[in-house]
Amino acid sequence: MSEQIIQPNKKKVLSCIQPSGMLTLGNYLGALKNWVAMQDEFDCTFAVADLHAITVRQEPAALRQQIYSTYALLLALGIDPEKNTVFIQSHVPFHTQLSWLLSCNTQFGEMARMTQFKDKSQKHPENVNVGLFSYPVLMAADILLYKPDFVPVGADQKQHLEIARDIATRFNNIYGDVFTIPEPYIPKTGARVMSLQDPAKKMSKSDENANAWVAILDSKDDIIRKFKRAVTDSEAAVRFREEQPGISNLITIYSAVTGKTTEEIEKEFEGKGYGDFKLAVGETVADTLAPIKQRYDEIIKDKKALEQLYTEGAMKAEYVAKKTYFKAMKKVGFVL
Ligand code: TYM
Repeated sequence: MSEQIIQPNKKKVLSCIQPSGMLTLGNYLGALKNWVAMQDEFDCTFAVADLHAITVRQEPAALRQQIYSTYALLLALGIDPEKNTVFIQSHVPFHTQLSWLLSCNTQFGEMARMTQFKDKSQKHPENVNVGLFSYPVLMAADILLYKPDFVPVGADQKQHLEIARDIATRFNNIYGDVFTIPEPYIPKTGARVMSLQDPAKKMSKSDENANAWVAILDSKDDIIRKFKRAVTDSEAAVRFREEQPGISNLITIYSAVTGKTTEEIEKEFEGKGYGDFKLAVGETVADTLAPIKQRYDEIIKDKKALEQLYTEGAMKAEYVAKKTYFKAMKKVGFVL
C-alpha cells in the first residue's frame, strides 16, 4: 500500500469540506473546481469534514444523509478515489487526537479573534459551544497530519489556514520538526462568491433565503430562475465596478465558469441589458453543473460501492495520519 500513497516526486495537497446541507456554487468555484484540477499534478487528500459539522446542531438522520451525499458529490465532480485519498474525517481518529496536542499549544486569544467564530456565535447565541470556539485547531489537525504543501480553499478559510501555519511553526519550534508549513491555494477568480440576494454577504448554504445561493445539484430551471432574480443595480450596464457589487459578483461567476476575463465579458455584453446577461450566466452555470448532477444521481444510488470507497479511503488516510501523529506524540514526550 505504501507505494501507492507515497509519491515522492509530487507535491502534496489537502483540503476538506463540511457536509452541512447542499453544497453551493461558492464551494464549487472557491474550492472544489481546484480540487478536481489539481489531482493530476499533485498527490491529493480530500475529506468530508463531518466532525466540523456538529459545531452547529444537526439532526442525526439528516447529517448521515449529508455525509453520504457530500462524499458522492466529490466523486461526481470527477475526483478519482483511486488516484487520490478521499475519506470521511471521523473515520480517522488521529484528527481528534492530534487536535488535543495542538490545543495545548494554541492560545485562547488566538481563537477568540477568529472572524468566523465571532460571526457564528452571533448567529447562534443559544449554542456557543467549545467546539465552535476550538474548531480551527481541529482544522489545523486535519491539515498537518498529511503534511501538505498546498491547501486549496476559498478566501473565507484564509484566516483558519494562517492559524494552522502559526500552530505548526510554534510546535516545530518547541518540539522539533514534525509538520510541513502549508501554503494556501486560493483561486484568483471565484475565491469569494457572494449571495445573489445580498452581494455584501458570502454565498452560503446556511442562508435562509434559498434564492441567495445556487446548489451544485439544483435543476437547470432553478439555477436560471435564481440568476434572473439576482440583485443588481440601476445602471443596467454589464461593467465590473467595486461600488456595484451585485453585477460585479455575476461577472466574477461568469468569469470563473467560462475562463473569460472581465474585459472580454464586458465586451461580449456591450450594449446589452442585465436581463440578457443574467440569462447567459444562468445558462452557463446550469450547463456546467448538469453533468455533475447526472453523475451524482447515479453514484448516490449505490451505497455499497460508496461504502467500499470511503472505507478504502480511510485506510489510506490513516496510514499517513498515524505516522505524523505518533511522531508528534513522541516529540512531546509521551511513552509509545
Ligand atoms: P466549508 O465546508 O464551509 O467550505 C468548503 C470550501 O468551499 C469554500 N467556500 C467558498 N468559496 C468561495 N465563495 C464562497 N461563497 C464559498 N463558500 C465556501 C471554502 O473556502 C472552503 O474551501 N473549515 C472548512 C472545512 C475544513 C477544511 C479543513 C478546509 C475542515 N478542515 C482542512 C481545508 C483544510 C469549512 O468549513 O469549509
